[in-house]
Amino acid sequence: MARPNTKAYQKTDRMTLQINSFDEYKEVYKRSVEDPEGFWAEQASSFTWKKKWDKVLDWNFKEPNVKWFVGGQMNITENCLDRHLEERGDQVAILFEPNDPDAPNKTYTYKELHAEVGKTANALKANGIGKGDRVCFYMPMVPELAIGVLACARIGAIHSVVFAGFSAQALADRIKDATCKAVICSDYNARGAKNIPVKKVVDDALAMGCDSIETVLVHQNTGGEVQMETGRDKWWHEEVDGQPTDCPAEPMDSEDMLFILYTSGSTGKPKGVVHTCGGYMVYTAYSFQNVFQYKPGDIYWCTADIGWITGHSYIVYGPLLSGATTVMFEGVPTYPDAGRFWQVCEKLKVNQFYTAPTAIRALMAQGDEYVEQYDLSSLSVLGSVGEPINEEAWEWYHEKIGKKNCPIVDTWWQTETGGIMIGGLGSHSPMKPAHAGYPLPGIQPCLLDADGNELEGNGIEGLLCIKYPWPSILRTTYGDHERCRQTYFSAFPDKYFTGDGARRDKDGMYRIIGRVDDVINVSGHRMGTAEVENAINEHPMVVESAVVGYPHDIKGQGIYAYIITAGPVEDEEAFRKEVLAVVTKEIGPIAKPDKIQVVSGLPKTRSGKIMRRILRKVASGDTSNLGDTSTLLNPEVVDEIKNNALV
Ligand code: PRX
Repeated sequence: MARPNTKAYQKTDRMTLQINSFDEYKEVYKRSVEDPEGFWAEQASSFTWKKKWDKVLDWNFKEPNVKWFVGGQMNITENCLDRHLEERGDQVAILFEPNDPDAPNKTYTYKELHAEVGKTANALKANGIGKGDRVCFYMPMVPELAIGVLACARIGAIHSVVFAGFSAQALADRIKDATCKAVICSDYNARGAKNIPVKKVVDDALAMGCDSIETVLVHQNTGGEVQMETGRDKWWHEEVDGQPTDCPAEPMDSEDMLFILYTSGSTGKPKGVVHTCGGYMVYTAYSFQNVFQYKPGDIYWCTADIGWITGHSYIVYGPLLSGATTVMFEGVPTYPDAGRFWQVCEKLKVNQFYTAPTAIRALMAQGDEYVEQYDLSSLSVLGSVGEPINEEAWEWYHEKIGKKNCPIVDTWWQTETGGIMIGGLGSHSPMKPAHAGYPLPGIQPCLLDADGNELEGNGIEGLLCIKYPWPSILRTTYGDHERCRQTYFSAFPDKYFTGDGARRDKDGMYRIIGRVDDVINVSGHRMGTAEVENAINEHPMVVESAVVGYPHDIKGQGIYAYIITAGPVEDEEAFRKEVLAVVTKEIGPIAKPDKIQVVSGLPKTRSGKIMRRILRKVASGDTSNLGDTSTLLNPEVVDEIKNNALV
């Protein structure tokens, strides 16, 4: 057997990854698709590897089986933390803006963050958590969430962060699916004027039979009262504070799991998207540095929650891998008023600002006076993510926030892609309202017709697929590889299917149209129609339901539910409230339908399939041409649904 190459492979000049003009982009892009392996090997060489890889890429999209930097060993936290200590140990790594605007900012320099992560990692080990164990996080946006996630990565434990707005039931489902050994949570979540119980939700979830959980580590956030179960529940500060700051980084294979993140699809329960260490590291850093054109000393703020992929890749990993100062915001955009984002931008002198169209639309609706009182001259790049940004919101963002001086990078990507796939590179790319633009280097998108034929040229529209692997592509769905194959790799041979439709305009710029499957995008959050329907069906009066998305001014899409009940509904308003309560209990408030219409039947084909096309049209207020309904099993319900539509 050949001796493993254990020589540390290190190069610390991080910013050499950056592209500096559109011409350079074109050149780099060309090289990246002509020689992907050479290109990514070059990018990967700027990181610290414990052992260099033997092979850059091994792949097929059939099984699928994708491996990057095969045989390499590293630890992502050494690259996020240790690697920066010499050059920027005293620079702020995490800049925490608390919910309360009058509370002081809390900061962690790279040295301090390194020490906190070390202590926390040692505390996890002391609690019997080790490499390969799954640890669930259910926390508000406090620094301890980032620290805990990094502590897992330090010792090779796999983190599964669950957004703290999900219900106990949804949390329990995720804990069980990943058979997590521990949950890390806070006592309460200070969000706007609310103080939301967090530990209580964990208690309720664990009462649903999460037998794999041995430890609950509770971070004291607001100091509110919680119940602690002896033996199982432990205080973060008691476990972490006395630990040594030094914790050796576990050597991880490039393809060892880094994390699981649950996301909704068109069928069944949410699935655990799996990302692995090496490729995710290379791609999140590369995309972060190029899209945001981050320069040393800049203050970067992404307003997402770490419960979503955007927070994983572009609050924690991408920025820290790049030695950036990343802002973590605990609060909400409208507390204490609709000027909070802009007040924080002024106060912290934010350079790159990354948010979602839904937030932009909501703030735009509040009036310009909330913006005008703040000095936003520090801003240099504005980002958008999660859903299509409409032209009106784009223009407002560009004019009122960017003062027409900042490029808008409209970034298209997904939980499954791990990092930004299509989007501008700071000010170097041409931009057009509502267009994500060009693919990042190494990304090979294509548009297909319904038969799977690739559409050539520009000025076309089709199903968005990717035809070659990139380093942060999902590797599997946790515990169910077949589901991964079915969902993403079976629609079209040798292609990753995104579920989105897109247009490539005359200049070759991509415009994302939206999902072509049964996924609804509400305020940038993915909801599966089946998932919401299953929740609604838990109501004892509900016989059957069908849920569709419809255009919503602020949220992008709203949820419209058609419900068949067992017998007449006496009090529609009371019934509506009960349905909302059931959905909140089963999934969380983000999945609550905006409109509920009680119907006597749902339009079905002769094979019993619900004709969602008709329901979508009615929900969007367009009943002019519902197409041929004569072949339906029950054409008579269409008129009833149309006449009673809530539009
Ligand atoms: O439909 C696309 C939409 O969000 C979906 C992915 O959702 P999720 O996995 O939750 O990740 C969101 C954050 C990366 C996509 O399939 N989407 C995301 N970004 C954009 C977008 N639609 C249009 N434009 C975007 N910039």
